[in-house]
Amino acid sequence: MTSNYRVEAGGALRGRIRVPGDKSISHRSIMLGALAEGVTRVSGFLEGEDALATMNVFRALGVRIDGPQNGNVTVHGVGMKGLRRPAGVLDCGNSGTSMRLLCGLLAGQNFDCELTGDASLRKRPMKRVTDPLAAMGATMTTADGGRPPISIRGNSGMRAMQYAMPIASAQVKSSLLLAGLYASGKTCVTEPAPTRDHTERMLHAFGYAVERSGATACVTGGGKLTATAIEVPADISSAAFFMVGASIALGSDLVLEHVGVNATRTGVIDILRLMGADIALENERLVGGEQVADVRVRHAELHGIDIPVELVPLAIDEFPVLFIAAANARGTTILRGAEELRVKESDRIAVMAQGLQALGIAAEPTADGMRIVGGAYGGGHIESEGDHRIAMAFAIAGLRAGAPIAIADCANVATSFPGFVALARGAGLKIEERS
Ligand code: S3P
Repeated sequence: MTSNYRVEAGGALRGRIRVPGDKSISHRSIMLGALAEGVTRVSGFLEGEDALATMNVFRALGVRIDGPQNGNVTVHGVGMKGLRRPAGVLDCGNSGTSMRLLCGLLAGQNFDCELTGDASLRKRPMKRVTDPLAAMGATMTTADGGRPPISIRGNSGMRAMQYAMPIASAQVKSSLLLAGLYASGKTCVTEPAPTRDHTERMLHAFGYAVERSGATACVTGGGKLTATAIEVPADISSAAFFMVGASIALGSDLVLEHVGVNATRTGVIDILRLMGADIALENERLVGGEQVADVRVRHAELHGIDIPVELVPLAIDEFPVLFIAAANARGTTILRGAEELRVKESDRIAVMAQGLQALGIAAEPTADGMRIVGGAYGGGHIESEGDHRIAMAFAIAGLRAGAPIAIADCANVATSFPGFVALARGAGLKIEERS
């Protein structure tokens, strides 16, 4: 199915909206719910293709899962040793999170299996998980260059390890902690900079002890998970498009309801505030171990900044739309230390730079980031390269463009943000979808 967007120039974002559920938390709710003893009820689940891919993998592993229906999912846990050998290859679709976390979780099972994904996922690096998992005793083979598909041999003898991650990656950390549940002894993972901690929080919610000291998280293998209820907050990574949109579009005043504002995810708010954005967190509360707030964003004049490098892992998925904020800011914005953007669903540095340049924005890609000079820009034709966040970022750019923007290859928006076009239109974006 093809999908293209056309966005008329101008408009403002107003009202109150709730974006779909958090992708990271939705994946983990299925994974931990499946391994738990008892029935886990999930509400607010993201009915996007990535989270559905994880759900289908667990169904193939013998887990009964009811739903999703209006964001409600029921996972009938099979216990730590209850997964069954799948009949076929496990397809993770476009989802790096599914594949990397599953590598860790499946490494310690007593059956063989194989993981694959779509053309984008099959280009993405997996050695970052397969190398440390091999050091724990896992037997895995990949295609050339450590890319998927990945074959995993059954293994009941995984060994715990202490691992200092060379990159700040929540996916790697989570993969190794999940493998650690099946390893003999205590597995400890140290991160070079803070990354999202949903795995640690959710393990705790399922009654599994995670020791945290400074930058290190540890689990001891051989324990069990007890089913619980999970309420998934709205995804700050999806809310980010509207935070930028409301900031740049004159006359905007938008409330984003029930957004997850876990401190390991709020880099986008910190960066936008440093640029002069008017963002207020209202009604802050704790829901199932995760911080949640309503986020009110009003138009403000933005200015360019040198993005603090320590904020990069805390906003890693938000840079496509943050580049749009930079294009609308007075002066120059510089991003460094973000080479991970080159191995996301697309090479987000190269693809964003091309798109920004197509609109007439002075964007200069670097090995690990971008330099963007803000100013007026026109319309044009954008290739999103099938990257959901790039498609949505350029849709938001339409709010301040001088002419319409056409965006090609937008079907993958459904991986993370089903209903984006309707929600954005309701808030004031002049967007239309064409097949
Ligand atoms: C994710 C972690 C991030 C992020 C991805 C989801 C997760 O990847 O980009 O969209 O759920 O753990 P890295 O941790 O590899 O940067």
